Amino acid sequence: MSPPITLDIAPFLSEKSQLWKACGIRGLFPLEHIPGMISLLAGRPNTSTFPFDSITMKLKPTLAGMPAASGDEDPFTISLEEDELNEALQCVPPLPTRLMRAEQWLEKFQSHVHKRVPDASWDVTVGSGSQDLMYKACEALISDGDHILLETPVSLHSASWYKTPGTLGFLAALPGTLVEVRADSEGLNPANLETILLNWETTHPGKPYPKLLYTIPSGSNPTGASIPEHRKIEVLKLAKKYNFLILEDDAYAFVYYGPEGQQARSYFALELEVNGEMGRVVRFDSFSKVLSSGMRLGYMTASPRLSTVVSMITSNTNLQPSSLAQVMAYALLSRWGPEGFLAHCAGVAAFYRARRDVFERVARKHLSGLAEWTSPIAGMFLYIKLLVHPDGRDADSEEIVRVKAVSKGVLAVPGTAFMPLGGATPFLRVSFSLIEEDKADEACRRLREAILEARAEAVAAASKNA
Ligand SMILES: Cc1ncc(COP(=O)(O)O)c(C=O)c1O
Repeated sequence: MSPPITLDIAPFLSEKSQLWKACGIRGLFPLEHIPGMISLLAGRPNTSTFPFDSITMKLKPTLAGMPAASGDEDPFTISLEEDELNEALQCVPPLPTRLMRAEQWLEKFQSHVHKRVPDASWDVTVGSGSQDLMYKACEALISDGDHILLETPVSLHSASWYKTPGTLGFLAALPGTLVEVRADSEGLNPANLETILLNWETTHPGKPYPKLLYTIPSGSNPTGASIPEHRKIEVLKLAKKYNFLILEDDAYAFVYYGPEGQQARSYFALELEVNGEMGRVVRFDSFSKVLSSGMRLGYMTASPRLSTVVSMITSNTNLQPSSLAQVMAYALLSRWGPEGFLAHCAGVAAFYRARRDVFERVARKHLSGLAEWTSPIAGMFLYIKLLVHPDGRDADSEEIVRVKAVSKGVLAVPGTAFMPLGGATPFLRVSFSLIEEDKADEACRRLREAILEARAEAVAAASKNA
């Protein structure tokens, strides 16, 4: 067997990535740790002037059970005081810090979860949510003239729900051309991907092959689909053959509630085994679904060369992700340990499994024969196909969702909102994360009325045309 190759990411970096320079002052901070050094460097405020004396976090008995705590510690209380508090309140980390320790913790965690030995091919960078890191990674990678393969339907994240055409939120503001790769009930379809690549020179004469593939492998937003491992393997092989990077946006990885022990391994876990190489996968994880979405913490696992550019963009724009959020998360994670955190996530996932079951029960009650969907094994979405036309033709959900459903008092997202390049679709997305059973029942009853109205119109139109 030939030795593993670490992909050189340099040829993938954008022209703009060269323009980001390390912040001069920050580059000097490591010298502060030299014993005896007196630092007059930073224009930091003095933390003694801040009004906080301590911050105490009271934990819920976790969804999974008791978090681990050592000795006499109260297992449900974490207090940030003195040095730890100062570190949480200060912008620039003064010591070998919790912030760096959070990244070190996460490196060990990634190694544990994805069975990747720590080596020079990858590292972990914390950001203000995974979307912040995705944007910066795309900024570091995409130049004018590049093509980006985009799993479709795809979440527009911050785009307003009534914005029909357009692109994945921030990608719209970046250079590059989006190429849709259709997903189905099993996520990204490698056969569709291969067709696009096989025909590339005909469909895109004179254009370079795509540089990136963006995909949501678990509990996709919006489709709820999770791609099985055998498909990931095919996608990885295509990535090597056609030399593109895989941006693995796995925000729902910890919200997996399918059969125990059968969660597909990540692209990051598989790349070495499948392709004998490392560094082609850029992975994004998020704490938003399992710790707090307001803390705005996510992490990127990627080639250190890419991480350096992303960190340079951060240090020149928002300086760093919130210290307070990082110190809080680190205090919790280091107390729980990897297994405690994963047990907590399993509890969160069980919560959403129960929500899914309730929603599907009432959806079946009201929508049988009028709609169909694939039951998700991760995440918090159902992607519902409306069955409107008696002859089985696909309907366009747009008017039904925006007009009929709204007038009956129920809101959902029309599938058009997830089509980067526009186009009709019979789907709509519902989220079952927040909704209680009585409201879910009423929502599905109202949706039924909207679909029945659309169906009556479709039948009338068909008989008029007959
Ligand atoms: C697929 C996907 N990725 C990323 C995000 C954003 O994650 P974060 O809150 O870590 O920025 C979301 C938002 O909900 C999402 O649905």
